[in-house]
Amino acid sequence: MSMKWTVYRDYAAMSRAAAAVIAVQVRAKAASVLGLATGSTPIGTYQELVRMHREDGLDFSLVNTYNLDEYLGLPPDNPQSYSHFMWHHLFGQINIDPERVHIPSGQPEDVNRACRDYDRAIEAAGGIDLQLLGIGRNGHIGFNEPDFYLRTETHLVALTEDTIAANARFFSRPEEVPRSAITMGVGTIMKARHILLLASGADKADVVARMIEGPVTTEVPASILQMHPQVTVLLDEAAAGILMEDERRRRREDQA
Ligand code: PGA
Repeated sequence: MSMKWTVYRDYAAMSRAAAAVIAVQVRAKAASVLGLATGSTPIGTYQELVRMHREDGLDFSLVNTYNLDEYLGLPPDNPQSYSHFMWHHLFGQINIDPERVHIPSGQPEDVNRACRDYDRAIEAAGGIDLQLLGIGRNGHIGFNEPDFYLRTETHLVALTEDTIAANARFFSRPEEVPRSAITMGVGTIMKARHILLLASGADKADVVARMIEGPVTTEVPASILQMHPQVTVLLDEAAAGILMEDERRRRREDQA
């Protein structure tokens, strides 16, 4: 199965297209179950959803959301928590019911039980209708990092030293920097009925090409999405650079 991808001129156009896909889902089913993501990539999409809520009356009152991941050890009001990110960029600006918002707890009493309960709650909600994803430069989705194997269910992951070092700048004391996170597993993600993956910027071009054209491998966790029946990949021109070059080369070869 080949993944379909669409290229937009720039980040803003890609973000508007992504918000439009989410809006179609929410209008078709008021009680949609959305899987949501953090990171710099979806910020423009969330801004556009906020605009659609304010100007076009896009209604989130019955929408249920499940976020991909959260740092272990951070309370929801910590400005570096993903919970804080989501309330700042989206939930605080739309008419979502806080009871319908789900983000893995950064301070669970029992981590394993909390992970199991998260997957059960998603199933009890009827499964995820639409899962929004970014992609890490190393091919990760959620915090499913390249490895010899991938975990299917929601689980605790130890962050790599690189990630910990990169995050250190956001914290005043080194001991505050999270060393682990809770993430949906690739199985949790693959069960979503429709997956919407966004990538922007030239530094994603290589991994985007490997995700779409390379072999399915745990070394590029996003490559497993090749096996999903309904994936929409939206890219800006910079992130699609290598794919477009490969396509031009194939066309030249066909004509030769
Ligand atoms: P980014 O992160 O949107 O900040 O590039 C994407 C990811 O790591 O999934």
